Amino acid sequence: MDTKVWIVDKSVDNLVGNPQIVDAAQILRDNEVVALPTETVYGLGGNAESDEAVAKIFAAKGRPGDNPLIIHIADRAQLDRFVLEVPPVAEALMNAFWPGPLTLIFKRKPGVLSEKATAGLDTVAVRMPDHPVAAALLRQCALPIAAPSANSSGKPSPTTAAHVLEDLNGKIAGIVDGGATGVGVESTVVDCTEEPPVILRPGGVTQEQLQAVIGQVNVDPALMKTEGEARPKAPGMKYRHYAPNAPLYLVSGTREFLQSLVDEQRQKGLRVGVLTTEEFVDQYAADVVLACGRRSELETIAAALYDTLRVFNQRKVEIIYSEIFPYSGVGHAIMNRLEKAAGGKIITE
Ligand code: TXA
Ligand code: MG
Repeated sequence: MDTKVWIVDKSVDNLVGNPQIVDAAQILRDNEVVALPTETVYGLGGNAESDEAVAKIFAAKGRPGDNPLIIHIADRAQLDRFVLEVPPVAEALMNAFWPGPLTLIFKRKPGVLSEKATAGLDTVAVRMPDHPVAAALLRQCALPIAAPSANSSGKPSPTTAAHVLEDLNGKIAGIVDGGATGVGVESTVVDCTEEPPVILRPGGVTQEQLQAVIGQVNVDPALMKTEGEARPKAPGMKYRHYAPNAPLYLVSGTREFLQSLVDEQRQKGLRVGVLTTEEFVDQYAADVVLACGRRSELETIAAALYDTLRVFNQRKVEIIYSEIFPYSGVGHAIMNRLEKAAGGKIITE
């Protein structure tokens, strides 16, 4: 299949009615799948009410069928069509953070959405993206759109149209190229069917920000390393994810310690990569040393993380050592993704 590319300037006022958006919206209405930019990562969108469209999403990504999709909406009013009840805490969170990088889990009304989209669960994950292109496309097609990240299952999520094409060219009907995304890591997933609500996946909105609005918010114990055996409540969190081609090790210790690990592998003849930040990029001797944002501003690390992991693939390293980052603010999401990318491999000095 030829993958059509529509280039849309996200700074143009009111994109509803823009010919590219109209064309892409029609293809979504025809139950084909289209990749689209959001403020977090690119999503692979399809009509959430159509089994046919949703099956195409799972097929293009090679995604396991037991992993439900997030439903994207443009208007709060669309919720009532497929959500059974909206608890007051969810109302408060929507008022504070929508549109934005926050996904809420609700009890689902049966019979409206494709059962494949929700993987047969009696709950549904919903978010309203804060991106002019996503918002215009959602309004134009007037459908709830199921959209996982637009990567092949297991790969780093895409933050540019080029990343999407790397994984899905020829497998999807089209891609709306609206430039690089902003936040860089996916939305925070919060289960509002529990009291107090529970973070199932850390993301663009931090626990501190959520608690400032509604008070106590818990974190799914399965996300904490100490609870190793617990089963995460977001089905997607149990899979290895975001992985570069080469094995990735997180290193807890000094830069000298990390350098000694690099030296050992290079002596064996391996091509070694180091993931650090701009502050320390000059301080390592390795085959490929990449700066991922600035340690002093964790948001810049989140924005660059997935691209950096993909660059290691292009540079054909055989093993990667990464610094670790503080578990504060968006650092939770960064470390969660790095731990998954590393398959839990951490070396402590
Ligand atoms: O930022 C984002 O959220 C991006 C953009 C495209 O919107 N989307 C995204 O979707 O990250 P995906 O499919 O890659 O991740 C969705 C996560 C998975 O971990 C999935 O298991 C979880 O949300 N999820 C979806 N529905 C759920 C439900 N009903 N209960 C628990 N977890 C759910
Ligand atoms: Mg994903």
